[in-house]
Amino acid sequence: SFPGPLRVSSEELAKHKSKDDAWTVLGGKVYNITPYMEYHPGGESELLRCAGRDGTKLFQLTHAWVNYEVMLDKCLVGFYVPH
Ligand code: HEM
Repeated sequence: SFPGPLRVSSEELAKHKSKDDAWTVLGGKVYNITPYMEYHPGGESELLRCAGRDGTKLFQLTHAWVNYEVMLDKCLVGFYVPH
């Protein structure tokens, strides 16, 4: 049967918090932001602040106008299941 989209736990998410392996959550979706690291206009260290955790609030505080869904479409890992 169809397995459905990948579900990512907070435990799994927390493993991906380094520059070379960074995931974040934006609006309930988990993204691999590693390929974007070198292109972020705000720099790597700022982007890393949302690595391994839910970055939704931080992202909205800094640039709510940025269309992350379009930008990170190819970086989608799955859905966040926070437990
Ligand atoms: C700038 C994307 C996460 C801080 C930008 C810009 C984009 C972008 C497209 C340029 C915006 C513009 O000029 O209008 C992203 C994406 C993120 C992310 C896709 C997550 C996946 C973060 C986080 C922080 C941050 C977590 C801070 C903790 C900044 C800052 C700038 C910026 C300070 C302004 C840089 C400047 O113009 O000097 N980001 N960002 N970003 N971002 Fe992010």
